[in-house]
Amino acid sequence: MSGDWLDIGRVDEIPVRGARTVTIPGDEEIAVFRTGDGRVFALLNRCPHKGGRLSQGIVHGHTVACPLHNWNIALATGEAQGADSGCTPVIPVKVSGNRVLICRASALKAAA
Ligand code: FES
Repeated sequence: MSGDWLDIGRVDEIPVRGARTVTIPGDEEIAVFRTGDGRVFALLNRCPHKGGRLSQGIVHGHTVACPLHNWNIALATGEAQGADSGCTPVIPVKVSGNRVLICRASALKAAA
């Protein structure tokens, strides 16, 4: 842990083209994704459509397809793509060495 950054584990604990989840106070989940090109993103684990768990979706490029109705959500912005509209909160994330850190304040705000 350092400052307002919450250490959530190692990069290699996140499956490539997949996600892991982190539970934060309030019982909300943050989904932390790892793309095929090695980027890491974090979103509130709740689809802007009807709340599907995005961590269970399929990551392709820098988007994730929601497992419920297949909306595509941009990992960098949380925005639904194409004809669909809606946005899920993005949590700032950084990689330091092999550790993944998320912004604690943003995670708590997103879950409020
Ligand atoms: S809940 Fe995600 S597409 Fe419907």
